[in-house]
Amino acid sequence: ISLALTTAALAFTATTASASCDSGERVVKFSHVTGGTTHPKVVAANSFAERVNKEMDGKLCVEVYPNSTLFGDSKELEALLLGDVQLLAPSLSKFGSYTAKYGVFDLPFIFKDMDHAIRFTQTEKGQELLTVMDEYAGFVGLGYWMSGMKYFSANKPLIVPSDAKGLKFRVQTSDVAKQMISAMGASPQAMSFSEVYGALQTGVVDGQENTWSNIYTKKFYEVQDSVTETNHQLLAYLFMTSSEFLNSLSDDDREQFMRIANEVTQEANLNVKAAEAANRENILKAGGKINVLTPEQRNEWVETMKPVWKQFEDSIGTETIEAAAGA
Ligand code: LMR
Repeated sequence: ISLALTTAALAFTATTASASCDSGERVVKFSHVTGGTTHPKVVAANSFAERVNKEMDGKLCVEVYPNSTLFGDSKELEALLLGDVQLLAPSLSKFGSYTAKYGVFDLPFIFKDMDHAIRFTQTEKGQELLTVMDEYAGFVGLGYWMSGMKYFSANKPLIVPSDAKGLKFRVQTSDVAKQMISAMGASPQAMSFSEVYGALQTGVVDGQENTWSNIYTKKFYEVQDSVTETNHQLLAYLFMTSSEFLNSLSDDDREQFMRIANEVTQEANLNVKAAEAANRENILKAGGKINVLTPEQRNEWVETMKPVWKQFEDSIGTETIEAAAGA
């Protein structure tokens, strides 16, 4: 098949799961939680599907299910092991119940920017971490997909960390994120991505932290006072599949599939900075407010949150932390 994966086509594939694949083609389901058309994960997932569907036509047919329409955060890893889905790209902050090692990607202010994070993923340590999940029978890490740096938003302006005292923040299921929020004198509440907008709107939580692309495509700016350009943390994904799926392919097909996965990963990481910059502009155009910090104000955030590193030296490993910080 050749799918033109426009938004309309995506909505279509999400509701009519197998209608677009030809008979004889093996259906490969790719489930993820983000939405819109400009989000780096949406673009990368669609680009992967288009390439496989064109270059492996007649053999494989990738169907992309965005927006948690097939599985949300809490079920997707289990679904991959059960064979209900074959491809995922969860945030590295969502593996806490399997491994503490990905906590390194969550440490506040460890990466200056995405280029720094990409450099780390290319080091020996970074490559070693790519296969951490392979130790849990059934998972295979295919590549790191960068998403962006993260920014805090809340129902009041956050200029210095003490502005966050007493507020409740939605976090991903990451122990590092929880400790980081506690260090600000605020309370963390872990919650699935699909529930965040509603929780901000109804006041179940006061704030959240995310990339420009997530804040824009999920319209969080509509239900928050403003977003503060803290740049405090990375958001990146593990593009992954299952060994059951990979082993079911012939050697040639597996090689072709892996080659496309590598090429799409590299291309996605080259395009992510531009997507983030564009979605920052999109927030402003849509009426969202962004607080830009002075170097002194930003330094207060660094001083408040960086001590959290100490608490994770044993579980992540000092060598890994040093390799990331110095990459
Ligand atoms: C979140 O839960 O905030 C993000 O991990 C969502 C995503 O996949 O970008």
